[in-house]
Amino acid sequence: MAAAPGLASAAVAAASAGSPAGAEGRAADAHRAPGGSRDPAAITAGQDSVLVLEFGSQYAQLIARRVREAHVYCELVPGTISAEEVRRRAPRGLIFSGGPASVYEPGAPHPDPGVYQLGLPILGICYGMQLLADDLGGQVAPASRREYGAAQLEVDEPAGLFEGVPAETGVWMSHGDIISGLPDGYRPIAHSLNSPCAAFAGPAGRFGIQFHPEVVHTPAGKQILANFLLRVCGCAPTWEPASFIQRTVAEIRARVGSERVLCALSGGVDSAVAATLVHRAVGDQLSCVFVDNGLLRREEGERVVEVMSRQRHIRLVHVNAGDRFLAALNGVTDPEEKRRRIGRTFIEVFEAEAAKLGEIRFLAQGTVYPDVIESTSHDTGHARTIKTHHNVGGLPADLRFQLVEPLRYLFKDEVRRVGLELGLPEDMVWRQPFPGPGLAIRVIGEVTRERLDVLRAADWIVIDEIKRSGLYRKVWQSFAILTPISSVGVMGDFRTYGNVVAIRIVESDDAMTADWARVPYDVLSLISRRIVNEVPQVNRVVYDISSKPPSTIEWE
Ligand code: XMP
Repeated sequence: MAAAPGLASAAVAAASAGSPAGAEGRAADAHRAPGGSRDPAAITAGQDSVLVLEFGSQYAQLIARRVREAHVYCELVPGTISAEEVRRRAPRGLIFSGGPASVYEPGAPHPDPGVYQLGLPILGICYGMQLLADDLGGQVAPASRREYGAAQLEVDEPAGLFEGVPAETGVWMSHGDIISGLPDGYRPIAHSLNSPCAAFAGPAGRFGIQFHPEVVHTPAGKQILANFLLRVCGCAPTWEPASFIQRTVAEIRARVGSERVLCALSGGVDSAVAATLVHRAVGDQLSCVFVDNGLLRREEGERVVEVMSRQRHIRLVHVNAGDRFLAALNGVTDPEEKRRRIGRTFIEVFEAEAAKLGEIRFLAQGTVYPDVIESTSHDTGHARTIKTHHNVGGLPADLRFQLVEPLRYLFKDEVRRVGLELGLPEDMVWRQPFPGPGLAIRVIGEVTRERLDVLRAADWIVIDEIKRSGLYRKVWQSFAILTPISSVGVMGDFRTYGNVVAIRIVESDDAMTADWARVPYDVLSLISRRIVNEVPQVNRVVYDISSKPPSTIEWE
């Protein structure tokens, strides 16, 4: 996308806050925004940190999350980052991620050789381990037997990296190359059946491990990472939401001064937490705009107003724009066209409201770390697919605002912890992701007020029963879809011809892949019975048992 950053793009981004794909939609904006990118050194001030150099692994984000879970701040950076930039960021150690390439292939990504001159401890994982071996004078060769999946690790040196790790432990392997010769001064410290050197140690706190410590299938993984971070790098485990809040509030105050800040609330977690943080920093200098597009779930709009305005006393303009959105959607059945029109209408409404508020210099936005990673990783040329279908095209250029993105370096679970720490209610903090275009892409075909009402009633029952069964936080999303199909039914002595509602309940970690949730039949049965009994227009309920890929989570 070549559009310049500005009100429109930022506003759309904020509108879709609270959903990972909204995140995708706004990712490019976060990336381009001039005022959005803070100096990463600022957030780590007074705090030990490590850098995860990403070489294309699907697990790189997970590594970063695990490091944060060990209370050490870390950031994901391209594997080819310059040594100079690493030095500037002053980490206490580096982690090289895995990756799909073979180190001996032409074009395979290697770190800047200067990185090795910095004298920092390095943990190489899988491909990262092979990089260490290859770059430092060892040898890597194709394995005669590839190793994928669970393996048994035998620890030969139960100290340092393996302190407190059982002598035999399960690990997750995924590699086709092995270390066939170690660099001078390096020694093997663990082996497995197919990897005589499944882990090695060298001088200056350098370690390589062939397996993935970041996945749940490596039960000792947390201990191994903690050993590296705390024992080898000597990091103090001080990364906590409370200290983050303190630092961030001070930072926002310093940046904003006596200027005003605007924030678009969507009802989602990210925008709510971002607004609350900014409010804590600058109080009434913050004005929030909540554009109610009429496409929200039952009671959702009221809840935003209740929590943000009545409970937290945040200045809030609540715009009831449902009619306008419905008019824009009139006769539209194409999902992408729906998205475009909703995006456009949002910008129009938001801009009109913002203009009424007078001169405002800053725009606060709930961009979270995965958005930033996704928007930047393709620049590194490494693997990761970005979905473009959520991006709203044709955004007008407007450089009016400087962005304030207080959550820019947080993962979703950290955003939730910060939200709770700030005193936001659990139901808001734990809200499931919800797409920016809302129910409009769950009413398949044309969106009308009547069809929205039918869907809203059915959706309410799904959420209610999923919450009641204790599954709400365990599943990624649970919702109803109003299909364009009518089917024959029988109620009492009458034949009916009514709507078919589909139920979609999925498990997922990041919405990139998902599987349908194996919800107990009793719960499904209750949902189905209640929908048919309580929503008169519906006479049939079906459960969607498709995984993503090849299906998607939403139907449109
Ligand atoms: P799909 O349907 O692509 O959805 O598997 C993945 C995740 O993204 C959400 N989603 C959207 N979020 N704007 C958004 O803000 C959109 O246009 C959009 N489409 C899908 C979806 O709910 C799921 O969490």
